Amino acid sequence: MALTILNNVEATQAFAETWTTDLTGGEIFALHGVLGSGKTQLVKGLVRGLGYRGPVTSPTFTLVHEYLGGRLPIYHLDLYRIQGEKEAIEIGIEEYIPSDGVTVIEWPERIAALLPPQTMHWELEVVSLTERVVRRRE
Ligand SMILES: Nc1ncnc2c1ncn2[C@@H]1O[C@H](COP(=O)(O)OP(=O)(O)O)[C@@H](O)[C@H]1O
Ligand SMILES: [Mg+2]
Repeated sequence: MALTILNNVEATQAFAETWTTDLTGGEIFALHGVLGSGKTQLVKGLVRGLGYRGPVTSPTFTLVHEYLGGRLPIYHLDLYRIQGEKEAIEIGIEEYIPSDGVTVIEWPERIAALLPPQTMHWELEVVSLTERVVRRRE
């Protein structure tokens, strides 16, 4: 399977930026990888690629971050604190799967059963302090 080596944070952001060219809305990205593997850095690239210029953060208690004002709205779901599908549905997560814009999900394993087949799955691995590897999971 094709893999890409990401030598620094900038490379990781730039990689996700390349995803944005053909997006029209309704796409779902599922980002897999351990804590600190760079999922949020990929989100930053995606957000930047869609022309949003504000900050991208991951406050611990916010499950959904909305970035509006770029070419398409982006909904960034960080499901680290979710137990499973039942809790996600209670919170209203299904509204974003899909959305009118681009949905990008950290910890997608938590809601695996809710993800439609068109979901684009990407996997990050930590190689060293500064290096990551990313690959598409079919
Ligand atoms: N090549 C790289 N790509 C992405 N992050 C990197 C890289 N090298 C080092 N890092 C660091 O790893 C951390 C990744 O954090 P983050 O994107 O929040 O991870 P996650 O969202 O997967 O928990 C950041 O502190 C970042 O500076
Ligand atoms: Mg994160």
